[in-house]
Amino acid sequence: MSIVSNSLKRIKPSPTIAVTSKAREMRAAGKDVIGLGAGEPDFDTPDNIKEAAIEAIRKGDTKYTAVDGTPALKKAIQDKFNRENNLKYNTDEISVGTGGKQVLYNAFMATINKGDEVLIPAPYWVSYPDIILLAGGKPKIVKCEEKDNFKLTPKKLKKAMSKKTKWIILNSPSNPTGSAYTKDEIISLSKILLKYNKTYILSDDIYEHIIYDNFKFFTIAQIDKLKKRTLTMNGVSKSYSMTGWRIGYAAGPKEIIKAMAKIQSQSTSNPTSISQAAAVEALNGTQEFIKKRSDSFKERRDFVVDSLNNIKGINCLKPEGAFYVFPSCKKLLGKKTKLKTDKDFVEKLLEQSEVAVVQGSAFGLDGYFRISYATSMENLKKAMGRIKSFCENLS
Ligand SMILES: Cc1ncc(COP(=O)(O)O)c(C=O)c1O
Repeated sequence: MSIVSNSLKRIKPSPTIAVTSKAREMRAAGKDVIGLGAGEPDFDTPDNIKEAAIEAIRKGDTKYTAVDGTPALKKAIQDKFNRENNLKYNTDEISVGTGGKQVLYNAFMATINKGDEVLIPAPYWVSYPDIILLAGGKPKIVKCEEKDNFKLTPKKLKKAMSKKTKWIILNSPSNPTGSAYTKDEIISLSKILLKYNKTYILSDDIYEHIIYDNFKFFTIAQIDKLKKRTLTMNGVSKSYSMTGWRIGYAAGPKEIIKAMAKIQSQSTSNPTSISQAAAVEALNGTQEFIKKRSDSFKERRDFVVDSLNNIKGINCLKPEGAFYVFPSCKKLLGKKTKLKTDKDFVEKLLEQSEVAVVQGSAFGLDGYFRISYATSMENLKKAMGRIKSFCENLS
């Protein structure tokens, strides 16, 4: 009998991390692989944030802190929600963890009983179903369609909701599609959610600041009557290029926040004191670079979408945010190309053309692949050229 627990057998390692590791291995073996698999900005952490961390070390902020966040960071998060989202929270309605991932993990471990249903619109971020499974819950996947910009429609939501739905996860802008919900779309979904007063909403807003074309970000906790049933998760990883610092946070009902702290107190304890000091500066300091970086992401998005749509057999929507596109490769699957699935497509693309992307099926929707364009224009130009010749030589 295996030493590994039964609950662990229910889950799989992150497929996006797997692709990134494979690309790294190929590169170490001397191959010229272009990695479009990783979900992290290529920009460096801004200097004012680094300086705040150095200052924290010098000052001796190197000890344990309050388990779910220092008072200074909780205050900065409280101010952020007030300033940017017009949401008022007390500091005991805020929790800080080691990245958004830990915050989600705490939230679901703290609230899910065996068999509880969690509604997840697909395509979804790869970790949601596995965290739910590990917590003993049942992911209920609702497939969203390309014609709806991969977004959940009120009709689909209505059909999927039941008295057993403990949570629903909304992620806007989305990983892997980049699609974002408008205020009107969120209002339409909320009309249905208001009828299910036992269901909680997890809003993953981690890509809030990476939006284009004057898109107006709106988050579901801004619907007054739903605020008390919404846990809004966010973090500094993507907006501030701080993936390695590992700071994420959430705001929501006190009861959940307290339960999350209990889990954290018996697992990792506080997130790194130095990273917390850096996150205070990220949230309170200048926000100027966010716009500049979004402008570069927009230029890359436009280039990638246009290039992909110029490849025979590929089509790609133009998303509102994040740094991903989710093109269809369905027309290139079948007898003619001898590629059966999107996984075959991405594996062959990596082997033959040395471009690393992730298959759509890893995100719960077959026939697509995800490209992360958080890399230089030079890399993107090379990669688009390679994808074009790969696709055109398939048949
Ligand atoms: C949709 C989404 N949510 C949450 C996270 C977690 O980010 P972190 O743990 O770095 O804060 C990610 C990271 O890839 C993500 O894409």
